[in-house]
Amino acid sequence: MINPLRGMKDLTFDESQRFVHIVTTAITIAKRYGYNYIETPILEETSLFKRSVGNSSDIVSKEMYQFEDKGGNDVCMRPEGTAGVVRAFVSAKLDRQPIKQKFYYYGPMFRYERPQKGRLREFHQFGCESFGEASVYEDFTIITMISQIFEALGIGFDLQINSLGCTTCMPPYKQNLVGFLTEIKEDLCEDCNRRIESNPIRVLDCKNKTCQSLLVTAPKLIDDLCDECDTDFKKLTALLNDAGITYEVDTNLVRGLDYYNKTAFEFVSNDIGSQSAIAGGGRYDKLVEFLDGKPTPAVGFAIGIERIMELVQMPEKEKEGIYMGAMVAEAVETLFPLATQKRKETKVTLEYSSKGFKSHMKGADKMNARYVMLIGEDELANGTVWIKDIQTKEEKTLPLAEA
Ligand code: HAM
Repeated sequence: MINPLRGMKDLTFDESQRFVHIVTTAITIAKRYGYNYIETPILEETSLFKRSVGNSSDIVSKEMYQFEDKGGNDVCMRPEGTAGVVRAFVSAKLDRQPIKQKFYYYGPMFRYERPQKGRLREFHQFGCESFGEASVYEDFTIITMISQIFEALGIGFDLQINSLGCTTCMPPYKQNLVGFLTEIKEDLCEDCNRRIESNPIRVLDCKNKTCQSLLVTAPKLIDDLCDECDTDFKKLTALLNDAGITYEVDTNLVRGLDYYNKTAFEFVSNDIGSQSAIAGGGRYDKLVEFLDGKPTPAVGFAIGIERIMELVQMPEKEKEGIYMGAMVAEAVETLFPLATQKRKETKVTLEYSSKGFKSHMKGADKMNARYVMLIGEDELANGTVWIKDIQTKEEKTLPLAEA
């Protein structure tokens, strides 16, 4: 027997229904906010992720499914969706159009991580990317949209926000931080020591307990934002307060991808174990330019579908469609045209084997059908069909043409 690879799984039965419910709910809400569907390739040039997510990020340096294809190209399976959408935005020259563009997508992402509960090597995201809007109102709107999606799915969450500043306030802060980190260098873990040079901001979200205790007194960017970033962050918190969306400012929230500036956020759940982030995102105003497009502000997010799978409250299933069956073998063929006709309007399950009445009723129950249509010896002789509405319990026999 061949099983799925480690960290990858099949989605069947209950899980596949949950998957569809999550995606359709998110799509319905994203459309209300003006988002259109975009589909980008799973396989991209490796350089796309090196340039966007960042060479020093764990995702790029340790977790990529990267290989040389038969044409000798350095390619990789996308570890996230934003880079591909930005590349598509630039490839289609949408950066040169004056209209603001908003896209939603969903699909598999690949990260070669150590699998554990809530952490897979192939997982699925639902994401949105909004291009061309620099106003912090858009950051607020996106956070509101995610809250609405989780509310519609019956999922509780905590929201953490931070500001990562901009090209004015981040560089001096970084310098200041490196100074602080260099002084405590000897007591920090190996990973942090490596990051002091490659990506000092990432030191802030080290999970090592000793490092965390040493970082309590680290300088905080939030205290040193430039006027514009400070005003935007204050505006965002005021808007969230007014909307009644509770949040916590986490000054160590830096995100694992390098393209963010200004607003960064994560939605977390306390009900799913250590891998608690159920969605993450933020602003990335420089990425379009970085991938050779015209400077275009942008903000987006992605929800981890597997992470919320168990949390989703599924709506009660209503009885739906028709179950058709024959109690004598010759009657099955009489049901084909009726099934084809009815399939223009509703779901139809046609049982091919002729069976007894009880057996058919059990079958209809299993399919959760609203109506049962059966043809026995009498109905076949008379050109009729027996119909029962399972909900109202009403029964009748009608000529086939009328049914
Ligand atoms: P991310 O925080 O890396 O952001 O991923 C978003 C979500 O994907 C996480 O919050 C988590 O729920 C889920 N996730 C990540 N890794 C795994 C895994 N190994 N197994 C299961 N679920 C996982 C991004 O990917 C950004 N592209 C989000 C974004 C869009 N920012 C702006 N636009």
